[in-house]
Amino acid sequence: MATKKTCCKKAGCCKKAASVAEEKQPTKNAKLLAWVEEYRKLCQPDRVYWCDGSKKEWKTICEEMVQNGQFIKLTSKNRKDCYLARSHESDVARVEGRTYISSKQKVEAGPTNNWEDPVALKETLRGLYKGCMKGRTMYVIPFAMGPLGNPITKLGVEITDSPYVVVNMEIMTRVGKSVLKEIDKGEYFVPCLHSVGAPLKKGQKDVAWPCAPMDKKYIVQFPEDGEIWSFGSGYGGNALLGKKCFALRIASTLARREGWMAEHMLILKLTSPEGKVHYMTAAFPSACGKTNLAMMLPRLEGWKLETVGDDIAWIKPGKDGRLYAINPENGFFGVAPGTSKNSNPNALDSCNKNTIFTNVVLTDDGDVWWEDMGIDAPEHGIDWRGNDCWRAADRADKMVPVKGATYAEYKGKYVAAHKNSRFTAPAVNCPVLDKDGFDGLFNGEPVGVPVDAMLFGGRRPSTIPLVNQAKDWTHGVFMGAAAGSEITAAVISDKIGQVRRDPMAMLPFCGYNMGDYFMHWLTMALRTDATKLPKIFFVNWFRKDADGNFMWPGYGDNSRVLKWICERIEGKVDAVDTPIGLLPRPEDIDLTNCEVSKETLAELLKVDTEGWKKELAGLEEDWAAKENFYGRLPYALKAKLNEIKDALEAK
Ligand code: OXD
Ligand code: MN
Repeated sequence: MATKKTCCKKAGCCKKAASVAEEKQPTKNAKLLAWVEEYRKLCQPDRVYWCDGSKKEWKTICEEMVQNGQFIKLTSKNRKDCYLARSHESDVARVEGRTYISSKQKVEAGPTNNWEDPVALKETLRGLYKGCMKGRTMYVIPFAMGPLGNPITKLGVEITDSPYVVVNMEIMTRVGKSVLKEIDKGEYFVPCLHSVGAPLKKGQKDVAWPCAPMDKKYIVQFPEDGEIWSFGSGYGGNALLGKKCFALRIASTLARREGWMAEHMLILKLTSPEGKVHYMTAAFPSACGKTNLAMMLPRLEGWKLETVGDDIAWIKPGKDGRLYAINPENGFFGVAPGTSKNSNPNALDSCNKNTIFTNVVLTDDGDVWWEDMGIDAPEHGIDWRGNDCWRAADRADKMVPVKGATYAEYKGKYVAAHKNSRFTAPAVNCPVLDKDGFDGLFNGEPVGVPVDAMLFGGRRPSTIPLVNQAKDWTHGVFMGAAAGSEITAAVISDKIGQVRRDPMAMLPFCGYNMGDYFMHWLTMALRTDATKLPKIFFVNWFRKDADGNFMWPGYGDNSRVLKWICERIEGKVDAVDTPIGLLPRPEDIDLTNCEVSKETLAELLKVDTEGWKKELAGLEEDWAAKENFYGRLPYALKAKLNEIKDALEAK
């Protein structure tokens, strides 16, 4: 709400806010008002604006960003009310190296998190926040993670000086006055403080993507205070604080205290041709196709898949002893490259309106394009850096930075859309959204959906079979704890392509010592009816043959694996009991109309004894390197590892 011309005439807009208390406030909550006032004084914004979450507000801010050169409005008729942003080159992904769990004791953060003493870190950050919003508007965003009225839902308030964050948060979370009403009733909220860290001097013109240099970026969670302080980045999980910072890092600490689970998991609903319904959650590391699985079009006839969520699940024991899940988010912050008509038509359709694209290609007809979109590249476009690019001379589906050049010349050296370019799309746009489940309803009750199966996975080119069922809950927790994946572009790293252990896909998202987190998982068996716990499976869509080709087609064909999982849940089929888990008999995977040969399937389901010995040795090494999570690794997991090792030796 920066310029007079487009003033929205809302509280605090377009006039210097002497004090928050002097504004016409939409809340009476003293704690909230005091918190906003404290940071108004520290950050010194020119004005304070309380967001109401209305469609009008969203559109007004987006249009102002167009006028300020921070958004480009897409004019294609396929993109109603859609916008494109281009970020700064230094601000394109989550910055794990600058992300901290600042608990009082280092041991509480564990060896997998960056840690600094909270008092020292708050001192440093207060220094950075001082005057950091000069020349800018401080937006106050009251938001709910989850549907209001659901007992699993929690509230937050984000203060930010980034209009990009406001309009993304208004897609990704439920923002508005109804949230403030709950806060006014005394509901707990998580305070989330954010600044791009780029104050403006008097008269200074803003840049398209303000942010601070890398060494000044801080993404900090204070688990004991339940607070989030983020500085210097405007991108994704660093800045949209409802997502990774709240819904995973802080929520995992709340969940531990309160006896529930905050997981990096999609939630899907699967209906068999006979009309049997099963809900599943699945944890895969970043950029392993969670959104694709969450919206998959099953290849098997008669099977129907619906989406409850694509990234995060909050899971609580219900009164009947089962686990129930909600999706705390309201939209999808999906990776664009690779999202195509083939891989995920439902995600593409979700982006047809009210969507924000970041760092993709702008086409001359006011549309967007990215690599592996499944359609020909435009003749000409503007790449994510804002430079011209052209369709490659030798590949219709690729772009190059020099007119007339070939893709072969630029292969591996140039992409027109950033590898971590994103779409922020409202969940209600998704053609296969399970509306009830998304609203947290089961049989009309606001309890979340009952979880029948939990899946873990990762990108593993060898050893790990297509699907493997845990023998019991402890074994399932072990499988999750042992998960690993090749590093992808979702995070800035010089190790892209290498395998890293990513337990439960929570490595960058667990707000406390992962040894304690494993113990928390184990204790869920005591908090529920252990006979009704979800069955746990490990899946791997990414096995490669000796020539480096994928052995399993993935995408819609993954429904074949989900069908087997349903049959296991229903007790319809037997499995082969092996040292590593319960594997399908090859004949039980439905290969109707599938290009995979029986031999390949057999290979995908075989126990690679030598490979597994190496796998377990690697896991032990990793645990040792992490000092067994500073001594907090549960004995049950060590015992499980030894049990599997012994069984493999005996084989
Ligand atoms: C995400 C991630 O953006 O996991 O969802 O990195
Ligand atoms: Mn994620």
